[in-house]
Amino acid sequence: MIDHMGHWERTHTCGQIRASDVDKEVILMGWVHSARDHGGIIFADLRDRYGTCQLVFNPQRAPDAHRSARMLRSEYVLAVRGIVGHRPPETVNPRMATGDVEVVVEEMRLLNESLSLPFAIEDDTDASELVRLQYRILDLRRPIMQRNLIMRHEAARSIRQFLHAEGFLELETPFLTRSTPEGARDYLVPSRVNPQMFYALPQSPQLFKQLFMIAGYDRYFQIVRCFRDEDLRKDRQPEFTQLDMEMAFIHRSALFDLIERMMATLFHDVLGVTIRLPFKRLSYHEAIARYGRDNPDTRYELMLEDVSDILRGSRFRAFAEVLQNGGMAKGLNATGCAGMSRRELDELTAQVSNLGAKGLAWIKVGSGGWQSPILKFLEPTEINALAQRMEAREGDLLLLMADEPHTVNISLAYLRSVVAERLGLVSENQFAFAWITDFPLLEFSEEEKRWTAMHHPFTAPMDEDIPRLSEDPGKVRAQAYDLVLNGNEIGGGSIRNYRKDIQEKVFNVLGIGPEEAQEKFGFLLQALQFGAPPHGGIAFGFDRLVMILCNAESIRDVIPFPKTQKATCLLTGAPSRVDPRQLEELHIRLRGRVME
Ligand code: AMO
Ligand code: AMP
Repeated sequence: MIDHMGHWERTHTCGQIRASDVDKEVILMGWVHSARDHGGIIFADLRDRYGTCQLVFNPQRAPDAHRSARMLRSEYVLAVRGIVGHRPPETVNPRMATGDVEVVVEEMRLLNESLSLPFAIEDDTDASELVRLQYRILDLRRPIMQRNLIMRHEAARSIRQFLHAEGFLELETPFLTRSTPEGARDYLVPSRVNPQMFYALPQSPQLFKQLFMIAGYDRYFQIVRCFRDEDLRKDRQPEFTQLDMEMAFIHRSALFDLIERMMATLFHDVLGVTIRLPFKRLSYHEAIARYGRDNPDTRYELMLEDVSDILRGSRFRAFAEVLQNGGMAKGLNATGCAGMSRRELDELTAQVSNLGAKGLAWIKVGSGGWQSPILKFLEPTEINALAQRMEAREGDLLLLMADEPHTVNISLAYLRSVVAERLGLVSENQFAFAWITDFPLLEFSEEEKRWTAMHHPFTAPMDEDIPRLSEDPGKVRAQAYDLVLNGNEIGGGSIRNYRKDIQEKVFNVLGIGPEEAQEKFGFLLQALQFGAPPHGGIAFGFDRLVMILCNAESIRDVIPFPKTQKATCLLTGAPSRVDPRQLEELHIRLRGRVME
């Protein structure tokens, strides 16, 4: 513990000392969390990532240490040598793991000082996120952030252990590469030695993992950074981490089974909870019909009901017109919510109109009948049919909406989550997984006036839908699946095109002609002709998964050094201007006036 040069070694961490250590001599090192002078005796809490331990500086016992301790400020770095003692009974703190002991300091070494802090190192902080990101090292000292990052490590460890036991190889793929389209913009890196040429940072390792399959590495995984230049939200970062996997000779059912066991192991290892298997499965169409979105929160029921057939031709013009013009009418039974005030209903109406909805109709089911602004427009037969379809019971609130399908679905999906929150149906300790399957292969981009891949261009169509590729591309279903957890899309994948002719057909529908396909993906098309096995895989948003494990608000709280909404790093000031010489070497000339 003290070597011949007088160097100190830690004997314990701050969180480790227990009553069984009483009377032992220990050396602790850490940060001063707080220090208080109690008329002669000084108490200080010493903190490291393992916990906090109370130090006692007694002027009689160790006058030198006591004198130095009077200078202590928050976040000074200390080494102390002392003897573990019981705390006097009245000062025992049952909320602390080290709450019944203290270290009576014999000798102290001040290892470093600290500036005064912009915010306290506490779980509850009122510091804004901008300040937290600017002083990220201090933010990362907060116990809650340390717990998050430790859990991130534990999650990666559990996954590695599981996949290793299942015969997976952890293999790397390049960062300086060609574009791998996943629907976002690329981050480009100019090449100095190849003037006017650029690498693209991978949006995912998609093509390389397929090449691994063709090369015979039939079970691959990687916990890997991906780069996507897209508009950021709270669950998106420009660089984020995927748990990326691929398997050869696999059917969807075997892949689902493996992933379910991996998730059950992960949640058991990290949180000690038991996940029920198998996971719920919903087709894309069912998910949209019943929940209004393809990433439904299945912790609670509150299903949407299509009531278009009931209200078609109704005297209620607002509905009848929408339905006549190809729209739809759907409802949500907010069970037991008839007590909702007019103000709350107006508030909900305002919120859905922000989502583009034309309006929100409501019906309160009371003991004396229905109360609703639209009641006067409804026929008794319509009322009966609605009551039956929506299983209306006394005390319920029916929310109805007519609009084009997308608006109806996003609005009612939103209301569904508000109602669930209000009814207290959302529990943090419940983990509802659901597979979403049978996605359409393609979606029509109104902006670009062409078909785009809903997942990515390498996803295989369902075998029986292949003939439709040329006739009715919108109807082709993909062998694609997402995994959803508590309303978050945590992963997505597919069975791939392993036959060159099918891959070419898909490129073709996407408007990627033979020449362009050759130029951009020639290496893949060639590889597909050298004995490509059937294969498929999946990738998880590791940050999102850890966010849920930690019950964190945002993925930024589980990423050590995240970027802001504007894709900047407040700690380092990236992105930044570069030296003109560097630009010259890269053969780059900046356009326009250089901003100051
Ligand atoms: P996909 O694009 O669905 O699939 O990505 C997989 C998962 O990655 C997460 N994710 C993100 N997380 C944080 N920030 C982002 N900007 C971001 N973008 C995506 C999501 C998503 O479910 N190559 C395919 C996988 C495959 O087919 O095997 C792919 O990348 O949780
Ligand atoms: P109005 O007769 O237009 O005042 O509408 C009566 C009620 O129906 C109001 O509460 C409106 O918000 C609602 N409403 C109007 N149009 C729609 C619609 N397309 N979908 C749902 N509710 C609507």
